[in-house]
Amino acid sequence: MSRSRRDFLRSSVAAGSALAFGAGAPSVLGAVPHHRPHTHTSKAPAPRSLRILILGGTSFLGPHQVRAALQRGHEVTIFTRGRTQPKVNVEDFQRVEHLIGDREDDLGALGGREWDVVFDNSTRKWEWARDSAQLLKDSADRYLFISSTGVYYPYLTMNIDESVQPNTVDESGGQDGSAAYGVMKTLGEMEAQQAFGDRAIIARPQHFTGPGESQDRHGYWVERMERGGEVLAMGRRDDPVMLLDVRDLAEFCVHLVETEAGGIFNIAGPASPLTQEEFLYGLRFCTGKEVHWTWVDDYEFLKAHGLHFAVPWILLDGLELGYTSINIDKALEYGLKMRPLARTHLDTRDWWYSEAVSEERRNSPRFPLTPGREAEILEAWKAR
Ligand SMILES: NC(=O)c1ccc[n+]([C@@H]2O[C@H](COP(=O)([O-])OP(=O)(O)OC[C@H]3O[C@@H](n4cnc5c(N)ncnc54)[C@H](OP(=O)(O)O)[C@@H]3O)[C@@H](O)[C@H]2O)c1
Repeated sequence: MSRSRRDFLRSSVAAGSALAFGAGAPSVLGAVPHHRPHTHTSKAPAPRSLRILILGGTSFLGPHQVRAALQRGHEVTIFTRGRTQPKVNVEDFQRVEHLIGDREDDLGALGGREWDVVFDNSTRKWEWARDSAQLLKDSADRYLFISSTGVYYPYLTMNIDESVQPNTVDESGGQDGSAAYGVMKTLGEMEAQQAFGDRAIIARPQHFTGPGESQDRHGYWVERMERGGEVLAMGRRDDPVMLLDVRDLAEFCVHLVETEAGGIFNIAGPASPLTQEEFLYGLRFCTGKEVHWTWVDDYEFLKAHGLHFAVPWILLDGLELGYTSINIDKALEYGLKMRPLARTHLDTRDWWYSEAVSEERRNSPRFPLTPGREAEILEAWKAR
């Protein structure tokens, strides 16, 4: 390795990255400057250029990590099968080295190379994290594993911080997709930590959204607001909701590896509590269409009609009780910045109506509600 971890950390600190972020990393939430306007991770070059390898990089989070890293003057290599083509920040990929392989059984292209940092966006199997972390532990300084707050599922407690133990056993035997996903992420985290020790960073994002999303969770709301008319407002007005702009997550990933930060980070937004009512009325603020809200706030009625979630809203009981009660104090202390959600909505709308999204997808977003289903539920609500 051209540079030892000690040298790397010394130069990072000397460059004043993490600790200088707020004139000394604040140790309590109260020290986070909420009163100041939002400012982002600087677009100016970082004090030291890092060689960053992204395992993945071309679907949703990846292109934003690419942009955030390039903007800070880092060198980026991505590793994929070459099947998924980026749909946002496409021009940035001209400045990115692309290695081809398969996390299933062909990591050959990663051999004999060195990187300062690895971002592992592993989505499917914990074994992928095991194989790549073992392969790269002596040829990369640090390893940032993209996990998920899904590791806490079932969400039986409130104010879930990083000290809450992640779930390691899927007691449903694979019958519960959320449990299987969470355990897969937990095991992936453990593999990253085993190989990299305190050089591992475990990023646990909650729901994130924005331009280029691969599911249509925000696209639904864009489309719904543009359609106007009577809108089913699901849930209780004061139900808490959480969502984070994908670009804020990507920039925070880059920020973390520019610092000597280590350990586990819950990463969610917004920085201050948001209710379902505020979320929906905020969307209204971003649209010119006339909208009428019909609040359907009876949990039993919603359950009876199969509406358990309409992200970012989720019916908060049972196994999902604490889903929107993720404690992000640590991420805020370490410099997580968030742009206004109106920005997220407007930029996602621009992307949603660009050539990157097909007419067919726009007409039938993958979401628990279709126009027909929404009308049926509204009719049943009024007739009850
Ligand atoms: N969306 C959310 O709200 C949310 C919340 C919490 C956590 N997360 C996590 O965030 C991460 C985001 O993932 P993303 O899809 O946006 O990341 P991404 O890095 O943008 O895309 C995934 C990449 O994996 C590559 N890939 C897939 N199968 C592969 C294989 N067998 N070998 C090599 N490369 C392969 C794909 O390219 P090819 O197809 O060309 O191979 C693609 O480039 C995931 O880990 C997800 O679990 C998401």
